[in-house]
Amino acid sequence: MSTYLVTGGAGFIGSHLSSALVARGHRVRVVDSLITGFERNLQPGVEFTHGDLAEAAVANAAVQGVDYVLHQAAIPSVPRSVKNPRESHRANVDGMLNILLAARDAGVKRVVFAGSSSVYGDQPTLPKREDMPTKPMTPYALQKLVSEQYGQMFTRLYGLEVVTTRYFNVFGPRQDPSSPYSGVISLFIKALLEGTRPVIYGDGGQTRDFTFVANVVDGVLRAAEAPAVGGEVFNVATGGRVSLNELLATLKKIVGSDVEPVYQEGRMGDVRDSQADIAKAERLLGYRPAVMLEEGLRQTVAWFATASGIGPSA
Ligand code: UD1
Repeated sequence: MSTYLVTGGAGFIGSHLSSALVARGHRVRVVDSLITGFERNLQPGVEFTHGDLAEAAVANAAVQGVDYVLHQAAIPSVPRSVKNPRESHRANVDGMLNILLAARDAGVKRVVFAGSSSVYGDQPTLPKREDMPTKPMTPYALQKLVSEQYGQMFTRLYGLEVVTTRYFNVFGPRQDPSSPYSGVISLFIKALLEGTRPVIYGDGGQTRDFTFVANVVDGVLRAAEAPAVGGEVFNVATGGRVSLNELLATLKKIVGSDVEPVYQEGRMGDVRDSQADIAKAERLLGYRPAVMLEEGLRQTVAWFATASGIGPSA
C-alpha cells in the first residue's frame, strides 16, 4: 500500500483517479480549491483538505508522508485562459511550482503531472508525437507547457521524478457541463438530453482524439508505477480522431435525438486537428486504450441521463 496525493481530486479526472486508487487498497489524500471541483465528487475513503495550491503552505502540508503525487489540479479551459490569463496562470503554473518544490523537499517518489495536447498547437502533422516541436496558441497551452518543462527541469536539477501525461480531450461521467467553458462532450450531451440545440463553433470539421476517462486513469497509474520513466512525457489518448459533426451524429444516435446544432463563429485559439500517437505510452508504460469512443459515449450518456439529474424530466 502506498500513499497518494491527488491534487484536484474533487474534479472530474481527479475523482476517477481517487476511486481507482482506493479500490486498489492505497491511501488517498485529496487537496482541492473547489474552484472547478465539487465536494460531491469526493470519493469514499479519501482524506480531503480544502486548499489552494497557489499558496506554498498548502502544497507543503499536502505532501507530508506522501509517496506519489498525481497533480491534476488546474483551471482546465482554453477559452477561460484566453479570457482571464492571470487567474489560470496562478492555478496552473504557480500551483505546479509549489507542488514540485514541496514534493522535492518531502522526498516524494514521483509526481505525475496532468499535461495537455494543447501544447502541440496547430501543427499540421498528425498524429502528434511527443518529440515534435510544441506551439502553444493560448495561455492555457503555454501554462501546461511551462509546467511540464518545470517538471523535466526538476528531474534534471534535483533528481525529483516527474512524468507528464498529455491528455487529449478527456470525457466521461462526472465531467461538469454547467459552465460555458465545459468540455464539448458534456455540453452536447446536456443539450441533447434537455432537448436544446447544441452549439458548434466553426464548421464542425475540426477533429479531436476524444479519450474516455477510464483510459486516462489506466495511463496515469501506469505512469506513476512504471520503472525508469522520470522526466518523460507521454500522450495518453486513443490514437484516433473524429470531427465535431461526426461526434454529434453519434451522440444523437445514442440519445435518440433529432435536434439540429446551431453553428456559431469559430473560437479564438481553437486548434483544427488533434490526434495522438500513443506508441511511446504503449512501449514504455504498457498502455493500451481499453474503451473506445462509442462505448465511452454510451457510458457517459447513461451517467448523464441518470446520476447527473439532467434530462427531459429534470
Ligand atoms: C483543449 C485541449 C485539451 C485540454 C482541454 C482543457 C486541444 C486540442 N485540446 O481542448 O487537451 O485538456 O482544452 O479544456 O487543445 N466546441 C463546440 N461547442 C461547444 C464547446 C466546444 O463546438 O459548445 C468546440 C471547440 O471550439 C473545439 C472543440 O469543440 O473545437 C473541443 O472543445 P473543448 O471541449 O473546449 O476542448 P479543446 O479546447 O479542444
